[in-house]
Amino acid sequence: MRASRRLPLETLEPYLLDVPNPGVLPPDSPLLEPAPPIDFRALFGNDRPVEIEVGFGKGLFLLTQCQARLDTNFFGIEIERKYTLLTATRMAQLQLRNVKLACTDARWLLKERIAEASVSAVHVYFPDPWWKTRHRKRKLFTSAFAEQCVRVMRGGGRLHFATDVADYYADTIEMLKGIEMLRALPAPAGDAEYLTNFERKYRHEGRVIYRALYQR
Ligand SMILES: C[S@@+](CC[C@H](N)C(=O)[O-])C[C@H]1O[C@@H](n2cnc3c(N)ncnc32)[C@H](O)[C@@H]1O
Repeated sequence: MRASRRLPLETLEPYLLDVPNPGVLPPDSPLLEPAPPIDFRALFGNDRPVEIEVGFGKGLFLLTQCQARLDTNFFGIEIERKYTLLTATRMAQLQLRNVKLACTDARWLLKERIAEASVSAVHVYFPDPWWKTRHRKRKLFTSAFAEQCVRVMRGGGRLHFATDVADYYADTIEMLKGIEMLRALPAPAGDAEYLTNFERKYRHEGRVIYRALYQR
């Protein structure tokens, strides 16, 4: 689907949560000041468990999961506005009710606006590897980010991770070993269906996909 085919903003509004994006605001913006965490019960209008996907891109994972698991609420965080609006369009076309999207830096949102022990899973699929040294500060899956994932997860909550980059996988697994509250579970096989748009692309290219699963 091309970005130009996205639906008008007023149609997408029910899917979009208006949150500040520190990447486009001055550091002293009042919008970035401490505020109460997002009230998921009020946002979704029910008490169902909430799962977060960080960096949902074109939204294939959210799209399939929302339809397959109507008993769960999905909250997607994506830094790129064009992908957020594209995914919101897909959700609106299917009139899905169990998904909300936030366009911002997930590292900031998790830390500043998501309550402790409030979600039952965090999904992180194919984070950008940021090969160049000058881009390293954009890396998503740092130990600070992992600690925020664990903080927002309930006891028993799960952290899902997949990448095609062997070094990213090895570094992340090593870093997660140092987080006492996480227990590694057997990685899901994931051969039956494509999880995300990047997985579909990489599997067509014959790349190896590395997966990991943890429980709090
Ligand atoms: C390589 S793409 C993978 C997209 C999707 N997960 C998939 O597997 O098809 C990485 C995505 O993460 C998003 N992203 C990168 N840094 C982010 C951040 N700090 N917060 C939220 N999204 C981020 C990018 O905009 C991009 O859409």
